Amino acid sequence: MARHLITSAIPYINGIKHLGNLIGSQLPADLFARYQRARGHEVMFLCATDEHGTPAELAAAKAGKPVDEYCREMHAIQSEIADGFRLSFDHFGRSSSPQNHRLTQHFAGRLAQAGLIEEVSEKQVYSNADGRFLPDRYIEGTCPNCGYDKARGDQCENCTIQLNPTDLINPRSAVSGSSDLEVRETKHLHLRQSAMKDKLDQWIDSQVDWPVLTTSIAKKWLHDGDGLQDRGITRDLDWGIPVKKGDQDWPGMEDKVFYVWFDAPIEYIACGGEWAEAHGKTDADWERWWRTDKGADDVRYTQFMGKDNVPFHTLSFPATIMGSGEPWKLVDYIKSFNYLNYDGGQFSTSQGRGVFMDQALEILPADYWRWWLLSHAPENSDSEFTWENFQASVNKDLADVLGNFVSRVTKFCRSKFGEEVPAGGDYGPQEQALIDDLTRRIRAYEAHMDAIEIRKAAGELRAIWVAGNEYLQSAEPWAKFKTDPDAAAAVVRLSLNLIRLYAVLSQPFIPDAAATLMTAMNTDDDSWPDDVEQALSALPAGHGFAVPDVLFRKITDEEREDWQTRFSGTRDG
Ligand code: MF3
Ligand code: ZN
Repeated sequence: MARHLITSAIPYINGIKHLGNLIGSQLPADLFARYQRARGHEVMFLCATDEHGTPAELAAAKAGKPVDEYCREMHAIQSEIADGFRLSFDHFGRSSSPQNHRLTQHFAGRLAQAGLIEEVSEKQVYSNADGRFLPDRYIEGTCPNCGYDKARGDQCENCTIQLNPTDLINPRSAVSGSSDLEVRETKHLHLRQSAMKDKLDQWIDSQVDWPVLTTSIAKKWLHDGDGLQDRGITRDLDWGIPVKKGDQDWPGMEDKVFYVWFDAPIEYIACGGEWAEAHGKTDADWERWWRTDKGADDVRYTQFMGKDNVPFHTLSFPATIMGSGEPWKLVDYIKSFNYLNYDGGQFSTSQGRGVFMDQALEILPADYWRWWLLSHAPENSDSEFTWENFQASVNKDLADVLGNFVSRVTKFCRSKFGEEVPAGGDYGPQEQALIDDLTRRIRAYEAHMDAIEIRKAAGELRAIWVAGNEYLQSAEPWAKFKTDPDAAAAVVRLSLNLIRLYAVLSQPFIPDAAATLMTAMNTDDDSWPDDVEQALSALPAGHGFAVPDVLFRKITDEEREDWQTRFSGTRDG
């Protein structure tokens, strides 16, 4: 039995995520976690909300709520939607947890001791009226390029030009509107990533099996331009993790918090502590996943994320871990994704464009979305969601192939033999050929799942469903029944067993349908088909079953058009 530690990039707290976010990390991570559990391995699958930074502060202000209250509410909402999609986290934590506060401050202390943190003086805009330094995007003014009067200190939304706050004409505070601003010197902490460049470079080079998408991004940051840069890890915000060295104060840093990208990945680890607390476990119980001196040396750690997250996970977070000089578990494999586009454009949270997770569940159950998203995962290039494609895949793969097989077999059996697995007849050459074919295909499916080649795995699973349909079509139990009922019984017996096999194999992709099939087949034998022939005799003659309700219904053309219109605009983020 192997041990798999699996994390998904932790979604920002500000608002409900769209389907592009879902397929970029949480859903493929869930697929992998479910698969490894189904293979009998021990899994720790962690995710959380990413609660700090200006976006969280701004979203809370927009909602007219204190930040902590806003985050608490949004965490509950995101958690409920994650359940709706059947994301099987062992724990869904929060980066604002006390565990993450302590651990982030601990890492900062270790890095400081190791000489990897530098105090740097910077010039920054201070608002006298607000009594605080303003982050770039909290400063508004007139764009020097296009004259737009609500340009932000980091960028003009109107002409998209990148700006520095000092470029703005008539700058004012976005918090209070006050133009009583001045430039002041202030100290910030920088993580000396450049000092760890060679170590990181060697570490990346040793990852020969990583996807090219992952290593090419890391290499680009290591070598392009001036190479790996030191990075500011503090910010002038109220909301965040106070800057400390372990539990010691950090002189000069009293009003600062850590930068969100410093504390967010540390939450992967802290989340283990939250899991332990939530389940009445000890520190040793989570440390055996995270500390190589406490049992994690035989853990395989896999991370899932969108490509924009890769630099933080290949360079900054490893720099934090390596720099600490402590035996924390480093990632073994990084699976990264391109983007999913929406109907000719991009999904966009800020513009409310596309289908959001809550809306998706309002119109169809999770499995429909899971199947489409996973079978179209943007692995080798960006992919695109269109309603036509969604309708076609669901109707064909789920309704015509899998659903239809289940309904034909169970209804035919009920009408000819009753609701139990029929006795009589033997498996012949045709059955043997099916078993051989399935054995090959299931081994291929396992190989793709082990390698996290999601589209290929989905394709093989679909082929496994098709093989059952084709077998049924050519074995013709309905014709055989008239001349040789025993032969028909053998076909039906095998087919009923195939339904259980399908449930076991399909569970990582479509867990609800799999559960329905297991219930209908009246079994909780979810053992993996290491031996396909044996797996196809798990339900013996005389074993009772029930005809399940329609497993997947078809999406009609009217529905498709209706949804197309309904989701063509934008919604208020
Ligand atoms: N919230 C970030 C995003 O959605 C991901 C953070 S992943 C972590 O892009 F590693 F930093 F935690
Ligand atoms: Zn402009």
